[in-house]
Amino acid sequence: MTEIQAGAGVAGEATPDQVPAIELDEVVKEYVSHGEVVQAVKGVSMTIGEGEFFSLLGPSGCGKTTSMRMIAGFEEPTKGVVRLHGQDVTNVPPNKRDVNMVFQSYALFPHMNVWDNVAFGLKRKKVPDGEVRRRVGEMLEIVDLVGREKRRPREMSGGQQQRVALARALVNRPRALLLDEPLGALDLKLRQHMQIELKRIQREVGITFVYVTHDQSEALTMSDRIAVMNDGLVEQLAGPREIYERPATKFVAGFIGTSNLLSGVARAVNGSSAVLALGPEDRVIVPIKEAVAEGDTVELTVRPEKIMISTERPEGDLSMVEGTVSEVVYLGTYNSYAVALAGGAEITVFQQNVHDSTTTAERGDTVWLSWQPQHSYALQ
Ligand SMILES: Nc1ncnc2c1ncn2[C@@H]1O[C@H](COP(=O)(O)OP(=O)(O)O)[C@@H](O)[C@H]1O
Ligand SMILES: [Mg+2]
Repeated sequence: MTEIQAGAGVAGEATPDQVPAIELDEVVKEYVSHGEVVQAVKGVSMTIGEGEFFSLLGPSGCGKTTSMRMIAGFEEPTKGVVRLHGQDVTNVPPNKRDVNMVFQSYALFPHMNVWDNVAFGLKRKKVPDGEVRRRVGEMLEIVDLVGREKRRPREMSGGQQQRVALARALVNRPRALLLDEPLGALDLKLRQHMQIELKRIQREVGITFVYVTHDQSEALTMSDRIAVMNDGLVEQLAGPREIYERPATKFVAGFIGTSNLLSGVARAVNGSSAVLALGPEDRVIVPIKEAVAEGDTVELTVRPEKIMISTERPEGDLSMVEGTVSEVVYLGTYNSYAVALAGGAEITVFQQNVHDSTTTAERGDTVWLSWQPQHSYALQ
């Protein structure tokens, strides 16, 4: 969590930066549905720093929206505490919380033009006209809609409507903005464009964004940190690189990107690594964090792009396994190989097309796969 404590203040004095923007402390949410108790969130704790772009990532139904609604105040936790800027707001209604929420459906007023949609909240709060003009103008500039003030929502693309919704939320200057799958309705190209736009806007306005998505590439692209959720729990909370390079659990490894899972019995264990028994000629060394005893089964993951493929058994202190190529797919910038191991596992290997002749392996060939031991991780 060091990256969120960047604003080190005057020695001995607590600066506002050090108070987390949002905290969930052992939060549980149960619903009663048809007489049965559904635990949507099963005990989630997280601390979100001021100015952070923080994502809740996980499959549909894992409790992302419920967690978000508890931050916004639309749901009350069954157990646990929600804090905003250090204050317990667990029982404070949404309109008394200094956060704003943007929904997937935009919820714009169809009969109002862009300018009036954005100005609506300020006018209702009786902000003086001059200030409304200045703030709405400034916000339309940030979301790149200058010149479109007179348009109605239906006269605009999905991406533009999304930016109006964003401007309408941001113009109130909330201390945090909550976005629940805000790009879900857009096609891929527009979504990718808006991901970059959102990140830019967040940097420009400098407020905390909490972003809900089930799209791993979206979360990896935009976030400072990500909480990967599964079945009402947080499985890993870390930066995108850490999540991708060092998935903490089998679920995270499987959910984020393509990963290979291998398992084997530990046959030599020394404090920080174990050698796994796979095929007789194979050698797999894996760094371990927790106590592993000889005879334990260890599961490990290694990313496809970390694996080298060769027709000869490689030299050096590498992990290596032998297998048979079952599929080769040409994908432009790289080839994807599927390699079946004797034990039944299938390993995916991505190899950059550096030369025409990077490898000559074809379907049916016997090959060696090798990787640096530090590029593989034992899973919990
Ligand atoms: N109002 C509700 N009543 C009953 N069950 C609910 C309600 N809201 C959500 N759930 C259930 O809680 C779980 C988590 O839902 P949700 O937070 O919407 O997940 P996500 O946003 O990750 O898709 C799901 O099993 C969902 O069916
Ligand atoms: Mg949801």
